[in-house]
Amino acid sequence: MTENVTRVLVTGASGYIATHIVKQLQEAGYKVRGTVRSLTNPKKVGPLKELCQNPAHELELVEADLNKDEGWKEAVQGCSHVLHTASPFPMAAPKHEDELIKPAVEGTTRVLQACKEVGGVKRVVVTSSCAAISDLAETPKEPLTEEVWLKVEKLGLIDAYAKSKALAERAAWDFVEKLPADSKFELAVINPSVVLGPVLCGGAGTSVEIVRRLMERDPGMIAKLSFPVCDVRDVAKAHVIAMTLPEANGNRHIISPYTMWFQEMSQALREEFVKQGYNPPTRLAPFFLLKVLSWFDSTTKKIVQVHGHYPKFSDHRLRQVLGITPYDPKVSLVDMAYSCIDRGFIVKKTGYKPRD
Ligand SMILES: NC(=O)c1ccc[n+]([C@@H]2O[C@H](COP(=O)([O-])OP(=O)(O)OC[C@H]3O[C@@H](n4cnc5c(N)ncnc54)[C@H](OP(=O)(O)O)[C@@H]3O)[C@@H](O)[C@H]2O)c1
Repeated sequence: MTENVTRVLVTGASGYIATHIVKQLQEAGYKVRGTVRSLTNPKKVGPLKELCQNPAHELELVEADLNKDEGWKEAVQGCSHVLHTASPFPMAAPKHEDELIKPAVEGTTRVLQACKEVGGVKRVVVTSSCAAISDLAETPKEPLTEEVWLKVEKLGLIDAYAKSKALAERAAWDFVEKLPADSKFELAVINPSVVLGPVLCGGAGTSVEIVRRLMERDPGMIAKLSFPVCDVRDVAKAHVIAMTLPEANGNRHIISPYTMWFQEMSQALREEFVKQGYNPPTRLAPFFLLKVLSWFDSTTKKIVQVHGHYPKFSDHRLRQVLGITPYDPKVSLVDMAYSCIDRGFIVKKTGYKPRD
């Protein structure tokens, strides 16, 4: 635990990644405050209080919505560090891109404006994404680094999420750069790729979709796709380290140590779960079929764009600067699947054997 941290604010505390951050912060002995959209939802709020057994300080929760000004100054009051994870992360493309871009960009600005007005904040860590680095339509031979930025101008509605992440991150860097000398605070950014690993509480978010669909054979064939992946425990650790590490200030940090083919992911799940009654698919969907489907469906159009690509991201800052040895992605996948079955997000087969 670092001494100059008085209290840490985690925005969007009920999210998949944020719950791991809250847990790790509390286990390290920090005082933690989290924002949620509503305190009146016991299903969301109740389990958050139980993330850490015997915390030194009970988790404090306050209400704040990225779309509204109310609550943010009160949330930031008394916090020396802010970890801003909240942002819309929907499963499907929105009707209009502003449904994602407005809360992401304006919400990030609201959080930073509150830090500026309230004072006392030393550093903010923003959860961005590898989506803010590249849409992977073209994949260079060399790993993509923190210097690369998504080219938002050429993107359509299907890429609204990526656009929201890039524009929100850009807004954060611009905001901090323009801070007057008397209200300066530091900024570090975390850019995870597809996050795998156990779900601690809450509902079935977008992250569980890949594992759920493989485990439930939805559909029974898979495309020749690859995913840059990371583990949620490493992502949370990266936030906690970047909160105080001097070298993290003013930098982006890609968290994406591995790339896995869809088929490899399915195979890793088969090794653990076939004997328990699950049958993740292994057969590749023919490209011509995807091509035909892409005439009618924008998601398949996106799949066709990245079909057969094998993008890689630099793991330099993850390993060398943050000093994290990442989880084996097969472990992340299997841990995620177990947690999803136990929580009812994946059908529980009769042969299922929960872990101890
Ligand atoms: N999971 C991934 O693969 C991945 C990869 C790269 C980056 N990220 C980024 O990581 C962050 C956390 O994502 P996650 O995977 O943990 O997703 P998640 O479980 O959906 O969490 C998103 C959080 O943002 C909150 N939020 C959304 N809209 C909000 C609004 N208008 N006002 C206040 N809070 C709002 C949600 O609150 P509710 O619970 O009330 O909905 C939730 O707590 C996001 O910034 C996401 O873009 C995720």
